Amino acid sequence: MAKIKKVYICSNCGENSPKWGTKCPSCEEWNTFQEEIIAKGDTREEKKKVYRGTVQRDSPVPIILPEIKAGNTQRIIAPDQELNRVLGGGIVGGSIVLIGGQPGIGKSTLLLQLAVNLSLKILYVSGEESEEQIKMRADRIGSPSSECYILTETGVDKILNHADKLEPDVMIIDSIQTLISPFIESAPGSISQVRECANELQRYAKDTGIPVFIIGHINKDGAIAGPKLLEHLVDVVLQFEGDRNYTYRILRTVKNRFGSTNELGIYEMQGNGLREVPNPSEILLSQHDEILSGSAVSATLEGLRPMLIETQALVSTAVYGTPQRSATGFDLRRLSMLLAVLEKRSGIQFGASDVFLNIAGGIKSDDPALDLSVVAALISSLEDIAIPSNICFAGEVGLSGEIRAVNRIEKRIQEADRLGFQQIFISKYNTKGLETNRYSIDVVTIGKVDELFEKLFQ
Ligand code: TYD
Ligand code: MG
Repeated sequence: MAKIKKVYICSNCGENSPKWGTKCPSCEEWNTFQEEIIAKGDTREEKKKVYRGTVQRDSPVPIILPEIKAGNTQRIIAPDQELNRVLGGGIVGGSIVLIGGQPGIGKSTLLLQLAVNLSLKILYVSGEESEEQIKMRADRIGSPSSECYILTETGVDKILNHADKLEPDVMIIDSIQTLISPFIESAPGSISQVRECANELQRYAKDTGIPVFIIGHINKDGAIAGPKLLEHLVDVVLQFEGDRNYTYRILRTVKNRFGSTNELGIYEMQGNGLREVPNPSEILLSQHDEILSGSAVSATLEGLRPMLIETQALVSTAVYGTPQRSATGFDLRRLSMLLAVLEKRSGIQFGASDVFLNIAGGIKSDDPALDLSVVAALISSLEDIAIPSNICFAGEVGLSGEIRAVNRIEKRIQEADRLGFQQIFISKYNTKGLETNRYSIDVVTIGKVDELFEKLFQ
């Protein structure tokens, strides 16, 4: 056994240093060094004995590129279509998938649901909940008879020994922050523990070809807690997000070595687990019979997925001195910019009004195409004229009040058409190669914010 050693590790990039410093010399972040105690045992031999001493991997030899067979990655097709989509078409053998998200968002539910619905042998390791708690959750989800083994253990060496005996088809770890390696002294969840345990899990996945899902907590900035290194180490990083007060959840691909990062999965949290939402627009559009002022529908794109979402604005006379500006699901600075453009270019005064903006359904979006519907909703609320519910918008607003083109306009028009909208307002610069007669929706093109006012409200 080696002596106990203290080191300082950068929580951003994982850089080691024997002494503390305010700035990491490697990633140049400030105040990221944390004290950790690392060495307990140090020889590689000792490690090998504890970690799966039986499995030996042949040392790879160089192979000339054309001789490497491509496309032999076996994918397990999950019963969950949204998950398949974000993974790029199924679970790749030997891959490591990291799922991050706020506490209570549904990470454990998502993976337990996968575990009970996949008709394969699954090892679900939980360091967070007891067997009874997991059983209760599984009953809630409605577990079909499945070969899902639950292990409540946190020692990574013990977990891997069990996995070697059990030989599961998929392993799930809930969560990486609870795991401990016998070689690291510091507390579970610390940088060196997370790194060491993730390394062992990665080695296991690559040696055996068994895919491993890892749940990771996220810190207050929204990044996955632990070093960035963790994200480099794994093959796929998924982010599970949504507003806890709403039922919709979005599974976003942040990194994917086997597919595109533009994909998006949408779920709804129900009393009996997560339900896949194949047609997001249909539920995101609020259903009210009366048409009210201040509401406009935007044809947005999340990743590659078209979604029609509703933007709602409320413009009212400010009662107290400084008018309030508030935005939910939309960038506040962008809202201020749009208000300034409307004042300067169209002479519409918001100066003495409180302005509230909300994107319905608890959705957050930074698609520039939202601008046009935000502007329409603002004018609609200010003038108290309702926008007919069969009209939608897709366009970016520039600083001089011009309506700019947005990407993949055909997809947006197609989705609006499919959902039965009658009119879509887009930028006149967006019509290149666009065959509007293919759709039954009426495509209205505008070049300036003023034209929106004329064509919509007069
Ligand atoms: P959970 O999966 O424990 O979240 P995480 O692992 O990300 O911390 O989900 C917890 C929330 O989901 C909890 O507040 C209750 C809710 N929930 C439902 O609404 N329906 C269900 O069927 C389940 C299992 C959970
Ligand atoms: Mg959990």
